[in-house]
Amino acid sequence: MSDKGFFCGNNTPQDPANLTDSEKKHMPVIDAPDEVTAGEPFKVSVKVGEIAHLMEEAHHIQWLDFYFGQNFYARVDLTPVFTAAEVTVSLVRHGKGNHELGTLRVVERCNLHGQWEATKEIRVKK
Ligand SMILES: [Fe+2]
Repeated sequence: MSDKGFFCGNNTPQDPANLTDSEKKHMPVIDAPDEVTAGEPFKVSVKVGEIAHLMEEAHHIQWLDFYFGQNFYARVDLTPVFTAAEVTVSLVRHGKGNHELGTLRVVERCNLHGQWEATKEIRVKK
């Protein structure tokens, strides 16, 4: 299975350089370091999306999942009305080589518009 296969049902932009309004409201916007040190916590902040998504009872973001490659790291559940669609988590990556490049993947679910994902390459140094 390819790295992408596990996540192939998720929405991604048709043209990343020219997002539609729906993509701008649903694509996770990832703020994370380009390089981290193996075994040390680092912060990842994510907001949904570059146009803030609604958090109303009828239409809201339900959760965000964090993966490295296909490995699940964290889930944050959100409640409509009482939360904003933005979270910060502390993750710890354990590198195998001297400089391992890994794919941080954030998947979010909108109750009306399904799952959306964004990725960021992060280098892990020993
Ligand atoms: Fe939505």
